[in-house]
Amino acid sequence: MTTRLLITGAAGGLGRYAREGLKGCADVLRLSDVATLSPAGEGEEIVRCDLAEREAVDQLVRGCDAILHLGAISVESDFDALLQANILGTYNLYEAARKAGVNRILFASTNHVTGFHPIGETLDHLSPRRPDSLYGVSKCFGEDLSRLYFDKYGMETACLRIGSCFAEPTNRRMLSTWLSPRDFLALVRRLLDAPKIGHLVLYGVSANRDVWWSNGHADFLGWRPQDSSEPYRHEIEKREEEPSDGVRYQGGRHAAAKLPG
Ligand code: NAI
Repeated sequence: MTTRLLITGAAGGLGRYAREGLKGCADVLRLSDVATLSPAGEGEEIVRCDLAEREAVDQLVRGCDAILHLGAISVESDFDALLQANILGTYNLYEAARKAGVNRILFASTNHVTGFHPIGETLDHLSPRRPDSLYGVSKCFGEDLSRLYFDKYGMETACLRIGSCFAEPTNRRMLSTWLSPRDFLALVRRLLDAPKIGHLVLYGVSANRDVWWSNGHADFLGWRPQDSSEPYRHEIEKREEEPSDGVRYQGGRHAAAKLPG
């Protein structure tokens, strides 16, 4: 079992699910964010840290044996902000992990690394990346960096291309992209427990009817999503009109929007 699991971005939406849902996955959860976190409970440590600050990240990572790296700007933003949090922040984290001998990182990537593929195409881990936003490009950097650290140092990473992980799907796109918090947590547990993951790229999506992504190569994990967006379909389709032509791409609004700046 993992002794000390570091969770970055622990104050965010997924971080809160992870804090609650991963209790017992490790002797200690070290919870970190640049934002304020509520005080540590039993089996928890709180470390406030800006991922862009290299020495602070070195200290943050020391003593951990696995990392769930959620900390990032999680939406499209201007490049300078993404540069600090997502690019420099991820580099600092991998360097710190290398120095501290941390051998397993679960990196929260995004479906927006392939968001310029049209709806109707089924993608897998070998499909070319077609980022739909600067945010998507910043996550491509993290995926490539993790590959470099695997090839050079053997550090294992799972790049989780998360679809839309929220309590419920709330729009038509999410009927395809929804990842339930329960399925997310089950996936994280599998990735922590698997004896070997190597460098793995997979999509985080529940067992929805019209999924755009295939994870066949990751069957060995034994992760079988339990939830589906189907019970929400009727309400969503009643409320929301058919998507317009502007949303022909898997990335939805990200693909349709102008770049910032
Ligand atoms: P969120 O925006 O709710 O949480 C991200 C957290 O990272 C925030 O608490 C924020 O304070 C922290 N953070 C930002 N910059 C930081 C910095 N420089 N140093 C330290 N902490 C910093 O995002 P959410 O939804 O929890 O997503 C978590 C991760 O999963 C993100 O990396 C996001 O890109 C990724 N993701 C999430 C999806 C979702 O459906 N929720 C979909 C695809 C990817």
